[in-house]
Amino acid sequence: MAQKRVFISGIAGFLGSHLADRFLEDGYAVVGCDNMIGGYIDNVPSGVEFHQVDCNDLSRLLPLMAGVDIVYHCAATAYEGLSVFSPHLVTQNIVTAATGIISAAVASRVRRFVLCSSMARYGTNDVPFTEEMVPRPQDPYGIGKWSSELLLQNIAETHGMEWVVAVPHNIIGPRQRYDDPYRNVASIFINLMLQGRQPYIYGDGDQRRCFSFVSDVVEPLCKMATDDSCTSEVINVGPDDRFVTINELAETIARLLDFDLQPVRLAERPREVYLATCSAAKARAILGYEARVELEDGLATMIDWITSRGVRPFEYHLELEIHNQHTPETWSRQLL
Ligand SMILES: NC(=O)c1ccc[n+]([C@@H]2O[C@H](COP(=O)([O-])OP(=O)(O)OC[C@H]3O[C@@H](n4cnc5c(N)ncnc54)[C@H](O)[C@@H]3O)[C@@H](O)[C@H]2O)c1
Repeated sequence: MAQKRVFISGIAGFLGSHLADRFLEDGYAVVGCDNMIGGYIDNVPSGVEFHQVDCNDLSRLLPLMAGVDIVYHCAATAYEGLSVFSPHLVTQNIVTAATGIISAAVASRVRRFVLCSSMARYGTNDVPFTEEMVPRPQDPYGIGKWSSELLLQNIAETHGMEWVVAVPHNIIGPRQRYDDPYRNVASIFINLMLQGRQPYIYGDGDQRRCFSFVSDVVEPLCKMATDDSCTSEVINVGPDDRFVTINELAETIARLLDFDLQPVRLAERPREVYLATCSAAKARAILGYEARVELEDGLATMIDWITSRGVRPFEYHLELEIHNQHTPETWSRQLL
């Protein structure tokens, strides 16, 4: 049988690089692109055919799609909080970038397209979020993700390409950028505490989340390449029974590091979703989804990885488009 070819956008990023590992192990030829606005270049596994190409650059993207069977679109400026203050930057790399790669995939007769969306699509719906809910995103990032889904569905169905929408949430693990002040709360806390610095917590810290370790996400995501029960479906991927508050997250990391925790409290961020949980019932039924890695074990693995690479100063690498009284102080005053 001919070797299958998978294309992964955002392959120097956290999720894309782990997916690449898994597809290489499974014998696929893996091609990928990244514009390096995020990620780390050494995340890209050896064995990958890598191209530094932006998903908005259709003329450079098209030739890379030749012979590709499946596309995983992981490229994104996945900054929900920042999207409130830099909506142009964020939506350019969410909506326009998605349209670029969808168009290239259709033109190249790709069989199946898997889009990584986000639970931000659900916005102000009641929790737990289930897939049949009408999305009510409440910030530019969520609106961008929902728009990308609509564009995928429309363009794919018009031209006969199979599509799947994966909705992962709050993934943690090695290879996540830990010097990025705009996202990845667990990595930020670890990088700060390893430097002997206190973490900053917005609001009362009782915002509840369900974190999932990256290996628990990669497994069901990979099944979306071949499983026919997934086509034309939106599927949440992540646990729905492991709630943890941001305060508890900080406490767990502090315990693992034997760190004297006295967090700095800041005003809550505008439009931050207070309680965000997704139902995993559909993923369990269709993909046999199961959360295996305990939060504490996942955090310990991240601590080992960050320690082995060395702590880093935070890099304010993205432009804040809107400065006003709502802009979080950690960004406007570059506190990290
Ligand atoms: N990590 C999570 O907790 C999480 C949760 C829900 C959804 N997601 C989604 O999963 C996907 C992967 O997330 P991640 O955590 O790996 O993010 P990441 O930032 O680690 O990786 C994304 C990569 O995309 C690249 N990129 C951004 N814009 C691009 C463009 N226009 N062209 C080419 N490359 C571009 C970045 O350089 C980065 O390397 C994203 O779509 C994100 O929205 C992630």
